[in-house]
Amino acid sequence: MGGIDCGILKLPCGLNIFVWLLLHNAVKTNEYHYRLNLGPQSPCSFCGLNNENVEHLFLSCWKSQMVWNLVSSAYGKAINLSQGIASGFWLQQEVSGNDLFAQSLIASTLWFLWKARCNKVFNNDQLVYSKVSQMAVGYVREFFYAPSPNLSKNFILYNFQFADSPILFTDAIFNDDTSMAGLSFIFSDFKANIICAGSSRSHVSSYVEAAASSLCFALQNEANGVRNVKTILCPCAELVRVVQTGDCMDDWRLNLQIEVIKGIMDTLLVPKILFVPSDWNRPARSLAIHGLNHHEISLFHHGRELPRWLMKTFNLSGLSF
Ligand SMILES: *[C@@H]1O[C@H](CO)[C@@H](O)[C@H](O)[C@H]1NC(C)=O
Ligand SMILES: *[C@@H]1O[C@H](CO)[C@@H](O)[C@H](O)[C@H]1NC(C)=O
Ligand SMILES: *[C@@H]1O[C@H](CO)[C@@H](O)[C@H](O)[C@H]1NC(C)=O
Repeated sequence: MGGIDCGILKLPCGLNIFVWLLLHNAVKTNEYHYRLNLGPQSPCSFCGLNNENVEHLFLSCWKSQMVWNLVSSAYGKAINLSQGIASGFWLQQEVSGNDLFAQSLIASTLWFLWKARCNKVFNNDQLVYSKVSQMAVGYVREFFYAPSPNLSKNFILYNFQFADSPILFTDAIFNDDTSMAGLSFIFSDFKANIICAGSSRSHVSSYVEAAASSLCFALQNEANGVRNVKTILCPCAELVRVVQTGDCMDDWRLNLQIEVIKGIMDTLLVPKILFVPSDWNRPARSLAIHGLNHHEISLFHHGRELPRWLMKTFNLSGLSF
C-alpha cells in the first residue's frame, strides 16, 4: 500500500503518521527490534505467548480482541479488519465497507493499543480493556464531530457581561469501569479570553462525585480569591441543584465534598452557579479527557503549553489566551 497523506483520517497528524508506520511495518514492536538485531525475540507484551509483530499485537492477541469487542459494541456496528492491519484494506471503504468514521476509529484504537503496550513495557501498567476502548472512541468523537465554530465564544458573548466575569467552567468525565474521572476547569473573562485552565484525574464512584471533585479542584485553584470569580458553570444538573438548594445526597462522602464546595463559595462571596450543557463548552470537555489520560495535574496559564489537539479545540470554539 502506498503512503497515505497526513490528514486523510479525521485525526491528528501524528496519528496519521502512526498509521503510515503500521502500513510499512515500521512500528517498533519486539519483532521489529529482533528483525533489525536490536533486541531479543521477546514475546507479545500483552499475552506473553506469541511473537510480538503488528498483526498479533494489534489484532489476533486475545487481549487486543477484548478491546476490539468493546470498541465495536460502543460503535454499534461491525468493524472490518478481516485482511489484517498492515495490508491497509481497512482504509478502503469500497473494499472493506469501513466508512471514514470506522477507519478513524480503527486508527485511534490502534494508537491507544500501542500506548497501552508501551505503558505496559515501560511503566508496567496493566492493560485495562475498557480504558483503551473508551479513550479510542472518545478521541475519534472529539475530532470527527468538529464543534460549530466559535460555539463557546458565542455562548459567553451572548449570555454574560463584565459583571458576570470571571466565569469558571468546570467539566468532568467519569469512567464507570475504572472508577476514574477526568476533571477540568477553565477561567474565562467575558470576552472569551482564557485566564487559566487546568486538568487532573481522580478516583471517584459516580458521575456526580466526578463533577463535585472537578468543582472542588477548580475552586481550590481559586481559593486565594485573586480572580474574584462571579459565575460558575457546571455540566451536572444534579450537583447544581444540591449546591443551590442545600439538599442532602444519599452519599456521605459526597455531602462532605459539597460542604467543602459551599464553604469555599462562601469565602468567595458566593458566586452564582449555573448548569451548562457540556456541548457548549467543548474545551473543558477536552481538558477533562486530557486529565483522565494523565497522572499529574496540568495547569495552563498560557495557551502555548497546551497540547496541539487541545489547542485546536480551543481555537475552534473561539476561545483565546
Ligand atoms: C471486509 O473486507 C474485506 C476486504 O478486506 C472484504 O473482502 C469483505 O467483503 C469485507 N467484509 C464485509 C462484511 O464487508
Ligand atoms: C470565529 O471568530 C473569529 C475571531 O473573532 C472570526 O475571525 C471567525 O470568522 C469566526 N468564525 C465563524 C465561522 O464565525
Ligand atoms: C490557535 O490560534 C493561535 C492564534 O489565534 C495560533 O497562534 C495557533 O497556531 C493556533 N493553533 C492551532 C493548533 O490551530
